[in-house]
Amino acid sequence: MKNKVVKVMGIESSCDETSVAIVQKDDKEIKVLSNIVKSQIDIHEHYGGVVPELAARAHSDVIDKLIVMALEKAKVSLKQIDAFAATAGPGLLGGLLVGVVAGKTLAHYSNKPFIAVNHLEGHALSIKLERDISFPYLLLLVSGGHTEFTIIKGFDSYKRIGTTIDDALGEAFDKTARLLKLGYPGGPEIEKYAAYGDSDRFKLPMPLIKEKNSHFSFAGLKSSVANIVAEHRCTEKFKRDMSASFQETVNRIIFNKTQNAIREYRKLVKSKKDLKVVVAGGVAANKSIRHSLKKLGDIEDCEFLFPSIKYCTDNGAMIALAGVERFERNKFNKLNFKPQPRWPLDKKAIFMKGKRSIEG
Ligand code: KG4
Ligand code: ZN
Repeated sequence: MKNKVVKVMGIESSCDETSVAIVQKDDKEIKVLSNIVKSQIDIHEHYGGVVPELAARAHSDVIDKLIVMALEKAKVSLKQIDAFAATAGPGLLGGLLVGVVAGKTLAHYSNKPFIAVNHLEGHALSIKLERDISFPYLLLLVSGGHTEFTIIKGFDSYKRIGTTIDDALGEAFDKTARLLKLGYPGGPEIEKYAAYGDSDRFKLPMPLIKEKNSHFSFAGLKSSVANIVAEHRCTEKFKRDMSASFQETVNRIIFNKTQNAIREYRKLVKSKKDLKVVVAGGVAANKSIRHSLKKLGDIEDCEFLFPSIKYCTDNGAMIALAGVERFERNKFNKLNFKPQPRWPLDKKAIFMKGKRSIEG
């Protein structure tokens, strides 16, 4: 028989944050006992984007210290941990290897199970760190590497209904910020500049907007920004107006596509429950996107839920939580499990990158 109280360590190292957390679940509640995050922004900001080799080295430089810190903060010993979960994909291979090897080593040494977690499952469940929400719900995941609508039907039962055919939304923010010579990561910089800009000054394209589905394309938007940048002096006013125009265009796209996704969800999911839409990933930190989605909630009669910013961006707590859920279902992995840089949450989802038209 299982312990009533379960404690799982979660290790995250798929991109540019190293994080180790300990999450506990008992009969009543889920508690984050510790969630230590070390960002690599200072390393990558000079390059305007994540440099995989440097990211991997930086993860391996700090992972052991973060493990000790997470145990100390949680006031638990290694022996008290019931299982070790690590992000095993999708993400950058060098980083994934660091976290997975650490998780496997601890599991082997402690004679406890190792759990390979899909990073996207972590984001999908992250809202449960703070709220008791039941399945099903609709997930909008908007991060630096992913942009998708997935129906979270139940645990380990996921149906993707929309995705991007080129850039992820966070990537579009980062690339636009780089064109405007703003800092890295670009999302928060664009948001700051947009607050003082004229959002009507530049008309930008909204690719795929006429298609009545919930797929995205952002590459054309970024190219259009590049063309306008080439014709202007990059003054502070220009940066503000372009940031505001870009953010406003993104808002319109997200509003329109989320409306489509909600309608599709309602056709596919016959549930009497009120519809809840969870918005996760780093871009969900954007206040203007939060604001416009809340307005959509009133129109579509559904509730939008946003995890706290610390659980929107990459963190070990969401990986530990996915680990807890897997532990309870005896879903363990062997120590020869290999990291998977490409690992869709919905195994049946078609690979869409590069598709030009999606209609039909
Ligand atoms: O989820 P996350 O921390 O890492 C990935 O898994 O990718 O997301 C990082 C992304 C970056 O592209 C960053 O520019 C974007 O989230 N981001 C934002 C904001 N804060 C972070 N985008 C728009 N507005 C923000 N306030
Ligand atoms: Zn992420």
